[in-house]
Amino acid sequence: MSTPSIENIRHILVVGSGAMGSQIGLVAALAGYRVTIQDISAEMLAAAKSQLASRLQANVAKGKASAADADAALARLSFRTDLAAVADADFVIEAATERLDIKQEIFARLGELAPPHAILATNSSTLGSSKVAAASGRPTQVCNMHFFNPALVMKCVEVVRNEATSQTTVDTTMELARRFGKEPVLINREVPGFVANRLMGAIQKEALALHAAGIASLEDIDSTAKTALGHPMGPFELMDMVGLDVIDFIAQATYDETGTEADRPHPAITELVGQGRLGRRTGRGWYSY
Ligand code: 3HC
Repeated sequence: MSTPSIENIRHILVVGSGAMGSQIGLVAALAGYRVTIQDISAEMLAAAKSQLASRLQANVAKGKASAADADAALARLSFRTDLAAVADADFVIEAATERLDIKQEIFARLGELAPPHAILATNSSTLGSSKVAAASGRPTQVCNMHFFNPALVMKCVEVVRNEATSQTTVDTTMELARRFGKEPVLINREVPGFVANRLMGAIQKEALALHAAGIASLEDIDSTAKTALGHPMGPFELMDMVGLDVIDFIAQATYDETGTEADRPHPAITELVGQGRLGRRTGRGWYSY
């Protein structure tokens, strides 16, 4: 099996065209890579394409990019419902649904179809890459490459190695993140939530406890996080942006793995999810939009 290296990377395949996959694709295209965004849903792909085009137009309007650069980035992006492009992909970032069976199926196909040197990374925040490594048939070339929402803006990328991940895979993935203009951090061992979501979870837990005890209002807790701690958003605003279903899912996945009572999904969030109040995406979560 040939060795992956940063110099081999010209074409990047992103699997999944949701909020994360689509923006990751644009990040890569803006960094000069040829990118294919793949999704089984043609509607999702069409929505992603028009959102990315609007983002580029906004950058031009703000004077952050020239019209020629924006056009060039758009021209480097392709949108496909089939996985044929994987045959020519040097690096794959999977950002599909957070379901292990689906991811294992995707990694099995990627492993079969991708060139031998290609690295297969997952953007999953909850499923360590060790869970899909065997299915890929190339476990040394598999890791997590975890971006943050909104991926166009947030600088951090967590690169998480599993026990089989080779040093070359780690080095190449870290360097690719740098070439994307990101500031990658290396997580040496798979732990539920990695680093960022553990930190975020700890703050959310406190915020939920303070609110449930009637110590302060949602607005005042959020305001305190911003004006006392300099956070760009308060914990409740952030939960609404990420999606309460995602927050609930992360907590459940963490609890399943740790069995620690403190990691159990918070009943207030589970209740909002049950009511369809998922945050900004549905117009209502902790706040109304
Ligand atoms: N997509 C792309 N770009 C966006 C965006 C979005 N959804 N929302 C805002 N932006 C861009 C704006 O276009 C603007 O760009 P510019 O500097 O080129 O003009 C820039 O971000 C700043 O936006 P605004 O001036 O409108 O608003 P703010 O200054 O309040 O910034 C924010 C918005 C960047 C979202 C900021 O509030 C923030 O950093 N919030 C915290 C986000 C965070 O913590 N993310 C991590 C979530 S956890 C996660 O993703 C892990 C996962 O596993 C769950």
